[in-house]
Amino acid sequence: MPATATHTLADRYAAALPGSKQRFEHAKGVFPTGVTHDARMMDPFPVYITHAKGAHKWDVDGHKLTDYFVGHGSHLLGHCPDDVVKAVQDQMARGTHHGACHDAEIAWGELVRKLIPSAERVRFTGSGTEATMMALRLSRLYTGRGKFLKLHGHFHGWHDYVTVGADYPYDAPGVPGVPDDVARHCVAVPPNDLNRVEDALKADPQIGAVILEPTGGHWGAVPIRGPFLKGLREVCTRHNRLLIFDEVITGFRVSPGGAQAFYGVTPDLTALAKILAGGLPGGCVAGRADILAFIEARPGKPKMKHPGTYNANPLSAAAGVAALTRVATGVPCDLANRAASRLRNKLNELFEAREWPWVAYGDFSMVRVLPGYSGERPSTTAGDNNGLVPYDGDLNKLDGPKNMKQYSALRQAMLLNGVDWWGFAGMTSCEHADAVIDHTVTAFEASIDALTAEGL
Ligand SMILES: Cc1ncc(COP(=O)(O)O)c(C=O)c1O
Repeated sequence: MPATATHTLADRYAAALPGSKQRFEHAKGVFPTGVTHDARMMDPFPVYITHAKGAHKWDVDGHKLTDYFVGHGSHLLGHCPDDVVKAVQDQMARGTHHGACHDAEIAWGELVRKLIPSAERVRFTGSGTEATMMALRLSRLYTGRGKFLKLHGHFHGWHDYVTVGADYPYDAPGVPGVPDDVARHCVAVPPNDLNRVEDALKADPQIGAVILEPTGGHWGAVPIRGPFLKGLREVCTRHNRLLIFDEVITGFRVSPGGAQAFYGVTPDLTALAKILAGGLPGGCVAGRADILAFIEARPGKPKMKHPGTYNANPLSAAAGVAALTRVATGVPCDLANRAASRLRNKLNELFEAREWPWVAYGDFSMVRVLPGYSGERPSTTAGDNNGLVPYDGDLNKLDGPKNMKQYSALRQAMLLNGVDWWGFAGMTSCEHADAVIDHTVTAFEASIDALTAEGL
């Protein structure tokens, strides 16, 4: 896309993407804020996409973009993988909803049981939000305790119970629209502090479960590693509380068996979605048979009601079976992890070479960049999950207030340089080949130069 020194980044962005600008003007009259997901909002307008393949997508103005949204994390296999496309097309011709049980749901559930260590039983839902909602309701039924504990900065979807402490400021008194009576069932403490967790469990016998994103909130903004997970498992067992892993992002991404298989820590319940359904809508709760048994009607026991029109929808099941069959080989996770590791390392080499106060960090196939960084520099030869944790994991520095002007400018500049980069973070797929990563590093260099030119 052409760039001239006399025009601001925002001017160049608006000039290069007239089709997106025009669609956004229209959409503002249709949707509040003009978009259909909070994270798709961007200043001055978001990009509109026509189609995608592999690591790339194309916008309405014909630009080819390298994609780091990867379907909000659901496309570990890249966009439109041939095996998933064929499975969905074949299923489409056989029917999208039979209002009945079907073979694909059994095959899908068996794959979850094969891959996810905690999965003695599985129940499909319509989304990740529904999965965490179900896991928490099951935990209330199993333990007879009404409350749960979560960690600051950990995102578990948008249902009422889990909105507390999800975003900065973490100790805000209320969440708009969430009744105080509901919010008080959630106790939130900072991440990576086992003492705070144990003190909270001791202080409040009504807490029945602990839920977390096992590699850190907002997919690793403040990284969590194995020792904390092992400690949490031990504390939960000792205090007779359930441990719930929200592996909606990490499941089938970190390793074929998710973070729990990688770190060898088995939760009681696991929420899964995204890669689970091969890029189509779908989620599930997997876990201990005696806990999921509360979905069954049993004499003398309460039954958790669970309808849901799109549970184990045949299209999602077909996509899920095709995707998980490939995930089971281990190859997609390895390739995506390697791509992200290359990106982190090459970005840190660039930042060092240009003496820029930026750092790249993250684990597995998740990459974050932090501007204005003044801490210890990571090793550029770090592996998939042993890189530096910047600022010793300080929540406010790593997941605190963001400079939204800089955030928007980086997104605009990266799009102008052919990359759809998710603000200060991105995820890779197995289609992010070395040349794609190297192009992204070049785009970063040009983009940060553009930000610098604007005093950002
Ligand atoms: C860790 C985590 N849990 C739950 C959810 C909610 O999943 P969904 O968007 O499918 O409702 C998300 C979504 O991004 C997530 O990242």
